[in-house]
Amino acid sequence: MIDFKTLSDTYDTPLYIYDFDYISTKYSELKESFRAKKSLICYAVKANSNLSVIKHLADLGAGCDCVSIGEVRRAFLAGVSSYKIIFSGVGKRDVEIKEAIEKDILMINLESFAELMRVEIMAKELGKIARISIRVNPNIDPKTHPYISTGLSENKFGVDIEDAKRMYIKAKNSEFLDPVGIHFHIGSQLTELEPIQKSSEIVADLVRNLKVLDINIKFFDIGGGLGIRYKDEVLIKPYDYAQAIFSTLFTLDVTIICEPGRFLVGESGYFLTKVLYEKQNGDKRFVIVDGGMNDLIRPSLYNAYHDIEVLNNENEKTLTDVVGPVCESGDFFAKNIELPKTEHNDLLVIKNAGAYCYTMSSNYNTRAKAAEVALENGKDRLIRKRENFEDMIALEKEFIK
Ligand code: LLP
Repeated sequence: MIDFKTLSDTYDTPLYIYDFDYISTKYSELKESFRAKKSLICYAVKANSNLSVIKHLADLGAGCDCVSIGEVRRAFLAGVSSYKIIFSGVGKRDVEIKEAIEKDILMINLESFAELMRVEIMAKELGKIARISIRVNPNIDPKTHPYISTGLSENKFGVDIEDAKRMYIKAKNSEFLDPVGIHFHIGSQLTELEPIQKSSEIVADLVRNLKVLDINIKFFDIGGGLGIRYKDEVLIKPYDYAQAIFSTLFTLDVTIICEPGRFLVGESGYFLTKVLYEKQNGDKRFVIVDGGMNDLIRPSLYNAYHDIEVLNNENEKTLTDVVGPVCESGDFFAKNIELPKTEHNDLLVIKNAGAYCYTMSSNYNTRAKAAEVALENGKDRLIRKRENFEDMIALEKEFIK
């Protein structure tokens, strides 16, 4: 049982709380599932990039999947070894590519022919060989929310099979590129195995075709995407996930890389917020809390469901919207949910807030970002200070005329 009241008294609200022991459990569950083959779990840093979260996963053996040089730097700072870091993303800047090559990370994941050419130029300038992988877009419908679906040709991600082949041939013939990996990622919050297995089949076939061309892929990167239970989703079991991938590889001797974000950290997180007021507009009841869409934007952005619990409150429940103080009608955490009548300072816990919550927060309305706390072995510790007003204006102040 997490003592949210004490945490609120100690750290104030709004507050993010992450159960590190739970993260360890999820990591082991996934790693175990892939035990039958060589595997590396590269945590998708974008889900929750707090340095202590990355460090915790790195200590368990995880590498990192990064989508900006900032994330790569975070991974290094948190102690992740260079040979466990991948750099992905559709639009990398020259300086980012250069730094990734200089830092000698495991591989740079390419998403277009034009990018391959840039990476070759950068590697040549540095007199180095860049290890690369290519993101293949298998054109498979992942059956998830359109905003987090990435494996269809209408999405901006990756290249089709034929282009990928051309890129591999180009890379093989380059003095400055070493094609070591292949990658696909069809979407996030996936709850169906079939599209993943189908994609894996397509990509594994390409690996076999490349072998004939004497291009030997060592790392088979299956992306991330495993869903979690926000409401009543039926989930893919990690064991079945691993078996589905194995079934497409046959005798291919590759290291499987997977890049989970949400699966590892999503359920570990709680967003704690206090009730400011209740109000009634006509028939409509609102519970107004001290956290807002700037802290946790998933409901506003994707209409995402996050379970909400009012602590220590047995009052009668009626329908309400739970909203924040931000000046937008879209600033809500839930609409039309049953909630007990609340009092000023009642605590609300918003569940499954470990992934894509803090990392997507902003200073909109000049609201300082929340603090973050880790729970581990029965103890709590601050892992990011609450921002203050000075922090928010630090980069502007000197320019006032
Ligand atoms: N690998 C790649 C190439 C990705 O694009 C992503 C997520 C992952 C791995 C990790 O996916 P995961 O295991 O966490 O599903 N903001 C959205 C999610 C965006 C996901 C973007 N890519 C949300 O709040 O649901």
